[in-house]
Amino acid sequence: MNLLLAEVAQATQRLADAGVPSPRNDAEELAAFVHGVKRGALHSVKDPDFDARYWEVIARREQREPLQHITGRAYFRYLELQVGPGVFVPRPETESVVGWAIDAVRAMDVVEPLIVDLCTGSGAIALALAQEVPRSRVHAVELSEDALVWTRKNMADSRVDLRQGNALDAFPDLDGQVDLVVSNPPYIPLTEWEYVAPEARDYDPQLALFSGEDGLDLIRGLERAAHRLLRPGGVVVVEHADTQGGQVPWIFTEERGWADAADHPDLNNRPRFATARKALP
Ligand SMILES: C[S@@+](CC[C@H](N)C(=O)[O-])C[C@H]1O[C@@H](n2cnc3c(N)ncnc32)[C@H](O)[C@@H]1O
Repeated sequence: MNLLLAEVAQATQRLADAGVPSPRNDAEELAAFVHGVKRGALHSVKDPDFDARYWEVIARREQREPLQHITGRAYFRYLELQVGPGVFVPRPETESVVGWAIDAVRAMDVVEPLIVDLCTGSGAIALALAQEVPRSRVHAVELSEDALVWTRKNMADSRVDLRQGNALDAFPDLDGQVDLVVSNPPYIPLTEWEYVAPEARDYDPQLALFSGEDGLDLIRGLERAAHRLLRPGGVVVVEHADTQGGQVPWIFTEERGWADAADHPDLNNRPRFATARKALP
């Protein structure tokens, strides 16, 4: 075994002992980061190039600092995003939300679909939709100034219309016109604080994680905001915790002007997002 592989193996064990969920992946990603290569090219790194920086970043990861904060980048669908303190690190489960949203917009057969991303954080959802839905007009809103520092970097070369504000009263100029409203809002119940993984609890902003006792405060407000923004027949898709699949679709009731409310699993087959269509008059 060459020196690099031996050190990656040793680092994997250290990360596993620290409770890191995917120790091998992270040990390799950090080795690739330190050496400025893709993970698949690690075998080409010559041993003498190896240095103490690797053990510095491994020590940070051992303390459960997120991998993405150490490398400064997060991958989301076809995007590489800049992330760090102050902004929520986009998660793989949200990729399923975007996948559903893309299919829904395609099925509408609208020439220039009008899309709004509420609570955009790093901009992951809005940027993915702008990239993957041809001729889409994408608007995004975020409340936190700390998060927006990162959103602006990620959206620097994009055609997304980014605004700072509260999702609940955002984009009054688009009322009744939007084809798709999408959101991954904060949804963790305050009562579950102690069960949240250290990477999220200690490094993601609190505003990005929690929303009232049962976690559904903001989603209840988003139901009204989505109804205001959508045209009749437009659709909403909202991510939620895997424990909330029995609750969130019931927020989008017929009495409140919705049709076809449903819940959907993520790639791990866990309940992950609710969808509904604004009823026709
Ligand atoms: C779970 S993070 C999701 C970020 C991003 N959409 C993603 O999927 O990676 C939720 C985001 O909502 C923002 N947020 C919380 N309350 C908000 C509000 N009332 N209006 C707008 N943004 C809000 C937080 O600052 C955070 O960036």
